[in-house]
Amino acid sequence: MSDVVVEFFIRFAKKIIMNNITFTMIKPDAVENGHIGAILEKINSAGFKIIAMKYTKLSLEKAQKFYEIHKDRPFFNELVTFMSRGPIVAAILEKDNAVEDFRELIGSTNPADAKKGTIRNLYATSMGENAVHGSDSNENAKIEGTFHFSDSEILS
Ligand code: CMP
Repeated sequence: MSDVVVEFFIRFAKKIIMNNITFTMIKPDAVENGHIGAILEKINSAGFKIIAMKYTKLSLEKAQKFYEIHKDRPFFNELVTFMSRGPIVAAILEKDNAVEDFRELIGSTNPADAKKGTIRNLYATSMGENAVHGSDSNENAKIEGTFHFSDSEILS
């Protein structure tokens, strides 16, 4: 393995150990409603650095795999059908305390409970169609980030 590759892995490993990345998706509802730009502006203004990003679409199978942890929940079929119905924006974000700070920025899962000014308060319409996803732990941020991005697509 070349020195450059080794250095890249060390830098990426350090970032994960330091708990400063999270993973997000701008979901199909927010994309359909033209909110990509406004949501990215909120993310940048809150001090997150985008270190990987793609405009893509989940197949039903990929959505089922991504949300496998919820497979026994009553809303699973609704969730994966929704998440595969149109394009999304997937991104890895970097900031100190990224997971917690991003969850604060997006607000509660149910937009009815989301604090004023949060992304879900502004752009989500329901519990199911809630505009954005944010990782719920450092461990899941890593799993979800690598689900969507290869090492060469992560540029910090
Ligand atoms: P997300 O942060 O992407 O993680 C799991 C998703 O499941 C969540 O956002 C919601 O979109 C969805 N979800 C959670 N609870 C419900 C529910 N009761 N009904 C429908 N969808 C839900």
